[in-house]
Amino acid sequence: MIIPNQRHLFDIPDDVAYLNTAYMSPLMYDVTAAMQAGTASKVRPWTFTPDDFFSISEKARALAAQVFHTEAQNIAIINSVSYGIQTATNNLPITAGQEILVLDAQFPSNIYPWRDLAAQRGAAVRTLSYPKDGGTWSDAVLGAITENTAIIATAHMHWANGEVLDLMAVRAAADKIGAALVLDLTQSLGALPFDAQAVRPDFAVAASYKWMMGPYTSAFLYVDPKWHDGRPMEFNWMNRKGSENFSKLTDYVDDYQPGALRYDMGEKANPALLGGVSAALTQVLDWGVENIAESLRVKTNHLAGQLTAMGLRPMAAAIRSPHYLGVAFPKAPPEDILARLAAENIYVSIRGDFMRVTPHLFVSDNDMARFIERIKAHLGA
Ligand SMILES: Cc1ncc(COP(=O)(O)O)c(C=O)c1O
Repeated sequence: MIIPNQRHLFDIPDDVAYLNTAYMSPLMYDVTAAMQAGTASKVRPWTFTPDDFFSISEKARALAAQVFHTEAQNIAIINSVSYGIQTATNNLPITAGQEILVLDAQFPSNIYPWRDLAAQRGAAVRTLSYPKDGGTWSDAVLGAITENTAIIATAHMHWANGEVLDLMAVRAAADKIGAALVLDLTQSLGALPFDAQAVRPDFAVAASYKWMMGPYTSAFLYVDPKWHDGRPMEFNWMNRKGSENFSKLTDYVDDYQPGALRYDMGEKANPALLGGVSAALTQVLDWGVENIAESLRVKTNHLAGQLTAMGLRPMAAAIRSPHYLGVAFPKAPPEDILARLAAENIYVSIRGDFMRVTPHLFVSDNDMARFIERIKAHLGA
């Protein structure tokens, strides 16, 4: 189903063309209201009960689980991608001489923890280059997996240009040699359908402030049941069994809360943040991720057609994610192209060699027309 324009849910002035969801999504009115209600409960702490610590956490976890297509018990509430990837590095086995596969120019939160792990264990991070012979990122990963591969740390799509990886094929190849699969879904979860039950990543993390439409400093970590007895980043009291009973907290216990809950970050139950996260996820689920993808595909396909007509090179529809348009330039654009567009209230971003054009449901036909007209003028195309 194509979702009609949803700008009425957002505080976006008519003269702003925001095609930069990959940078961060704007908060909806309902999300801001939920965050304000959460803040108000700290203004009057007697209104925030011990039970609330758990109910707001479990609500957000259950909603996130639906977006990942999994059970709530497989989801941990964390603050950032780097926290989630670090949790994975703390638990996945790897020995000297083995390899961790990553893509060239992958987001740094999915690089630095692996470099550290490799240095500690005498292992190596192997960075895959984009195949020059017309192949895809999936080809690069599938062609690089060997008996020596311990971990494949990648994403559902490359954050610079939106090219999608065939995660089912990667999982199947990883299974053959017993390698772990770790995914950073930050630039896709909420806009590109993902099924944790089918893909079975060992760990998969997503920050909420982009396509999950939530606030900053909130993220979720999917943990395969195989790793539910692992080592958390923090030895936080709330993650221990029976922590709901505040009068017994100093009856220290060794057991944890069930499933992935042991990996929750400390002070997860921030009502201002989790209220916003839950309001945002409620709306995303109400729209439906499939519908969001289909609706954004219409916008990015339209933009791709217009950009192709002026001589630019958008990623081919067959290999790119519907919500994410990476555009290459045959000739380098003016250095200040982003500043020039921003001066006209038009927002996109550049990562590596690609301009990222990432509209959401609030982007109007007029916004797109204005972007096309102005970029054409700036490029002299
Ligand atoms: C692909 C990707 N991963 C992760 C992040 C954010 O990582 P962190 O939560 O560690 O700041 C971003 C932010 O731009 C991103 O684009």
